[in-house]
Amino acid sequence: MPKRSWFRLISLSILSILLLGGCSFDTIQSALDPQAPIPRAQHDLLIWVSWLSLIVIVAVGVVLFGSLVRYRAKANDKTIPSQTHGNTVLEISLIALATVITILVVVPGVRTIFKTEGRIQTEDITADDIVVNVTGYQWWWAFDYPDLGITTANELHIPKGKRVILNLKSADVLHSFWVPKLSGKRDLIPNQANQLWFVTDENTPEGIYYGQCAELCLGAHAYMRFRVIVDSETNFAAWTDKFTSIAPLQASTEPSIQLVQADPLVEQGKALFKQKGCGACHAIKGYSGGAPDKPNLTNFGLRNSLAAGVLDMPADNIDVRKANLARWLHNPQEVKPTNRMPTLWANGDPKADEEIAAIAAYLLSLGVENEAQANVGGNYGN
Ligand code: CUA
Repeated sequence: MPKRSWFRLISLSILSILLLGGCSFDTIQSALDPQAPIPRAQHDLLIWVSWLSLIVIVAVGVVLFGSLVRYRAKANDKTIPSQTHGNTVLEISLIALATVITILVVVPGVRTIFKTEGRIQTEDITADDIVVNVTGYQWWWAFDYPDLGITTANELHIPKGKRVILNLKSADVLHSFWVPKLSGKRDLIPNQANQLWFVTDENTPEGIYYGQCAELCLGAHAYMRFRVIVDSETNFAAWTDKFTSIAPLQASTEPSIQLVQADPLVEQGKALFKQKGCGACHAIKGYSGGAPDKPNLTNFGLRNSLAAGVLDMPADNIDVRKANLARWLHNPQEVKPTNRMPTLWANGDPKADEEIAAIAAYLLSLGVENEAQANVGGNYGN
């Protein structure tokens, strides 16, 4: 081989190894680390097809390189080798072998498709199922539990072991729902009702699972994330109680929070929430009507993330929660370019820091009556 070719081969090998260094089996969104029955079935199929492909590649490689060595033309030998074209036995054998390989891929493939992809008909939905209407917006997720009367955004709580049926629709462009460790992937299409279901089982650890919009939806597509929190039955019931216990807006003039000790900063933030216009977009059950096509902030204090999963809101670190929320309110475009949250404070506004701290204190208090209950949102770490 000439020197230049060796150089190119070695450079390409080093580049490939460096690129493979970006691969990992157990990152937060790895499909190679399935934690629920449907992704496990898909993973098993992937592994089976990969092994089969490897066997075919190795077998073809051995025959190819063996032939290259064994039948290499000798110097000055001009005779034409014997021709096998038209050899019936050989050709039928190759067709039979290819057919067997195809069957070995297709049969488990189709079986997995039928096991995981079927739509659950309305009459087959039981009271035990968790039904959630999912709406994709540029660039966040609305989760609506019609049976429980709960509307929330970007964080989907589910009880472990139950079947989850998601009715998917889009308010604008194509999006795609995907939690690699828990579910398959399905598009949200404008004017088309899609469904995706998945289950968790006794081998699914409770905790936070990371999801991502998997269909290019322009702008902040890469930041259109969400989280699924797999709760124990008890924690899920505690979470749903947090929503159902709040009286609806018209029925009550009581505050939506019941603080153990009244906090003047929270009270100030609560008033600012409406004064600054936040309440015109963001609904908070019992306090603000908001707009249905903007993220609902009811029980925001229980969230583990902010800005559709872009910023962490660790349940056990109030300082990080406050700092990240303040960063977002100061300049949403810096955190999540092209998103539709306005900046409410002009650059250099002397009151900005104080007002933002107050609004942050109010939002972080929602759903949280005392320190211990901050963990209802799921203190699983991040
Ligand atoms: Cu929504 Cu990408």
